[in-house]
Amino acid sequence: MSMPVRCDATPQWPLLRAHFEAAGRDLDLRQAFAGDTQRFAHFSQPAPHVFADLSKNLWDRQAEALLLDMARACGLEQRRDAMFVGQPVNCTEGRAVLHTLLRRPAGLALPGDLPFVAPALEQVHATLDAMLDHADAVRADDGITDVVNIGIGGSDLGPHMAVLALDAYRAPGKRFHFVSNIDGHELHGVLRGLRPERTLFLVASKTFTTIETMTNARSALAWFADQGGRDVARHFTALTVNVEAARALGITRTFGFWDWVGGRYSLWSAIGLPLAIAIGSAGFRGLLAGAHAMDEHFRTAPLAQNLPVRLALLDLWYRNFHGFTSRCLAPYHAGLARLPAYLQQLEMESNGKRVDLAGRPLPMATSPVLWGEPGSNGQHAFFQMLHQGSDVLPLEIVAVRQCAHPLPGHHEMLLANALAQTQALMVGRASEDGHRHFPGNRPSSFLLLDALTPASLGALIALQEHRVFASGSLWGINSFDQWGVELGKVLACDLQQRLASGDLSGLDASTAGLLSRLRG
Ligand code: F6P
Repeated sequence: MSMPVRCDATPQWPLLRAHFEAAGRDLDLRQAFAGDTQRFAHFSQPAPHVFADLSKNLWDRQAEALLLDMARACGLEQRRDAMFVGQPVNCTEGRAVLHTLLRRPAGLALPGDLPFVAPALEQVHATLDAMLDHADAVRADDGITDVVNIGIGGSDLGPHMAVLALDAYRAPGKRFHFVSNIDGHELHGVLRGLRPERTLFLVASKTFTTIETMTNARSALAWFADQGGRDVARHFTALTVNVEAARALGITRTFGFWDWVGGRYSLWSAIGLPLAIAIGSAGFRGLLAGAHAMDEHFRTAPLAQNLPVRLALLDLWYRNFHGFTSRCLAPYHAGLARLPAYLQQLEMESNGKRVDLAGRPLPMATSPVLWGEPGSNGQHAFFQMLHQGSDVLPLEIVAVRQCAHPLPGHHEMLLANALAQTQALMVGRASEDGHRHFPGNRPSSFLLLDALTPASLGALIALQEHRVFASGSLWGINSFDQWGVELGKVLACDLQQRLASGDLSGLDASTAGLLSRLRG
């Protein structure tokens, strides 16, 4: 596979710099709308299940045209196609990246012809069918009232976020708990309210070596035995690539997946079992269908009408030209409360990199800091800074047109607030009194779903996955490894032993001082 061209090596890069200096840095959104009656139409983009308004952003048509040319010069389309056909685009681990295969309908012709992909799709569907049969059986089993997912990172964030988001579809009479932290307070707090004969533990770990998950799983097994629990086979299930390790722990019921599924892209695999139990097989298939529709949009829509690509171009424009360091995500739906946490891993673990595919240090910035809270709450906390702070912090709103509750008035008020924020950020309000002055011209994007359904959630997540991949491709980085999490894991093992022994030899003064205090 040839090395893609990095954005800063394209002929468009200096042109973008020149355009930014001439017309980008000082772009005024109010004037831009006044001067272009078609601005909303041009910068809005329908995609499967998601409508996006990108018009209240600090760019113009010329910037976008240059960015699109730059993406073509980078070979974005070729890199996208390489991912979809199963080439080893995760070059530092020598792996294909095929989470899109997990949502590909059986029998649909494959986009490429690499020999391992067709059998892989068959395995995907055989595993999916078995997992969904099991999910429906658990769903119908009144003996199980509590489902506890034990997993961390990609083995927690996706199912946790999605179970909350799709609460309207949740099986009545079932409670879902998510234990991720190695901090025993979390597991202890959950176990306190459980009865072993009514509980199903799902031990979710791609590698089945992650220290947090292994520790929590062992403690859950010990608790189960202590409480007189019988039949581990009924009450524990493992979701993992490493089936042997699960068996070695005594867990015989397993659902597997494959090393070409990255942890943060694994909601669509067996890792989605808690969600499948919550919303049933039909719901889970709906989630996959929505994601597949977005996959097809990303794979086939021209770059200029391709929503993940347009979002990635905006991200790059903001990070590398405007120099904005973060993006605030405000979902205007209480069910999407965990979406910022989920997208933090997706974006920052994927694109928080400082070297390119060849390992060379990058001269430009990559992933922004992603952060946020549900919109209505955020308004009464940090939105002050969005409106009047010294930094420009682009806001991304996710709103849902229809609600799934009967309470009159609430939803209209919620949507009005979402709209009011984007309007206020842009138009501002002049005042002689500096404290009361709103400068306006602050950027925001608006993503709108018709309703929060399994399909629309699937499409929304796939949109974000492809956006992250597209921006990572333009920066020339590998969005699919995460070497940066390794060093801390190694040092923690060493320090755990030193906490027990008190050995301070060779430690820096700060670590030694803190370790002594921690030992008491
Ligand atoms: O430490 C980071 C990480 O490897 C993530 O990428 C992953 O989602 C998480 O740990 C959990 O890994 P596993 O599913 O193997 O337990």
